Amino acid sequence: MTIQSNVSLKALHTFGINVQARQLATFQDQDSLAEILAAYPDGHRLILGGGSNILFTQDFDGLVLKNEVMGIETIAEDDNYVYIKVGAGENWHRFVQHCIRQDLGGVENLSLIPGCVGASPMQNIGAYGMEIKEVFQELEAYHLGDGALQAFSLNDCAFGYRESVFKNKCKDQFVILNVTFRLRRAPIFNTTYGAIEQELERMGVKDLSVKAISDAVINIRSSKLPDPAKIGNAGSFFKNPVVSAAAFAKLSAAHPGMPAYPAEQEPYLSSVSGDQGEAEDVAGDAGAPMKLAAGWLIEQCGWKGYRKGDAGVHERQALVLVNYGNATGKEIYDLSQEILESVQKKFGVTLEREVNII
Ligand code: FAD
Ligand code: EPU
Repeated sequence: MTIQSNVSLKALHTFGINVQARQLATFQDQDSLAEILAAYPDGHRLILGGGSNILFTQDFDGLVLKNEVMGIETIAEDDNYVYIKVGAGENWHRFVQHCIRQDLGGVENLSLIPGCVGASPMQNIGAYGMEIKEVFQELEAYHLGDGALQAFSLNDCAFGYRESVFKNKCKDQFVILNVTFRLRRAPIFNTTYGAIEQELERMGVKDLSVKAISDAVINIRSSKLPDPAKIGNAGSFFKNPVVSAAAFAKLSAAHPGMPAYPAEQEPYLSSVSGDQGEAEDVAGDAGAPMKLAAGWLIEQCGWKGYRKGDAGVHERQALVLVNYGNATGKEIYDLSQEILESVQKKFGVTLEREVNII
């Protein structure tokens, strides 16, 4: 067991903010985690995967637990599915590539999402028309209170759009140790979202495969999203807000051309109201709730490409806030607050941060 004191976290998260942790320890399995927690039974704790969905606004005065639980193992198979158990510390894209090499379907649209497998259920990661809830079988997590190992089924996880029980009822209570996914032997291709079909055509793909879709998604993502190795960011800073059909009708009449698409019935709805921060439950309205494009709303407020010091809004994707080098977490956070207020003022829509603020 190695526990380091006063360690820089700059290289351990993708925003690259220069903050320190009081203590940092890595764990490889349940036993090493228990050992660390026995040595440090009290105080703040933060579980860290790849650090690609975190903004540190200050030093972390507590113990950072870096998850290094490894392993990718097929644990069961039947006629239709292959069940793969993955250690929480495995890189997400490495797992996707593992599935693609075996021609298994279900995660190809989720190619190139940064971070570790253990964080994937935290916000039910999603992209290009897929979310992990569609391939999720179960996970095992360690309870920080009593040290017991608990299994979570699909139902237990209460997945929603960028939501799960781990961000709500069970917040800060569990360390996810492994996740089991259910992959399809006969993939069901989903190419309808965004520019996938155009990209497949551009690539000259004749026979559709999980590999071809993965390559298309990688190409699209690489052209749009900043590479955290080059410029600090945590992907979309805000969620795309979901509003009632009635609210959308008013908004689109006032702002023709506003992009939106029907959302599933979401448990976490944003508001469209005159009062900032007032969450209006719109689930009862007639018609399907609509998901708006936060990037479009932010761009319309004039923020795209904005820069103040080293904190900025990406020039190709207004939903992504960036650190050009030496921004502080507070500067990024303050910029996000200004953006949130301007969108509220112009559209009456309250944005919600996707990134975990520490
Ligand atoms: P971290 O940032 O380390 O942690 C995130 C949260 O989960 C923290 O609260 C942390 O405490 C908690 N946590 C982490 N691991 C565990 C664990 N084992 N047990 C308990 N709690 C844990 N997300 C999408 O959904 N779709 C996208 O398309 C997408 N694109 C992105 C593109 C870029 C360029 C970047 C930088 C980010 C993007 N993201 C996207 C966000 C991010 O990649 C995902 O949220 C990812 O799952 C975070 O994984 P991580 O290991 O880096 O988590
Ligand atoms: N748009 C603008 N201006 C911008 C950015 C986007 O007008 O600066 C418009 C686009 O033209 C398009 C719409 O907004 O009409 C949606 O844009 P895009 O397809 O780029 O997707 P997004 O809504 O910005 C979401 C996810 C991403 C995910 C992509 C692809 C959220 C919060 N973000 O982004 O996830 O990769 O779709 O599925 O749901 C993340 O969560 O970190 C993330 C990157």
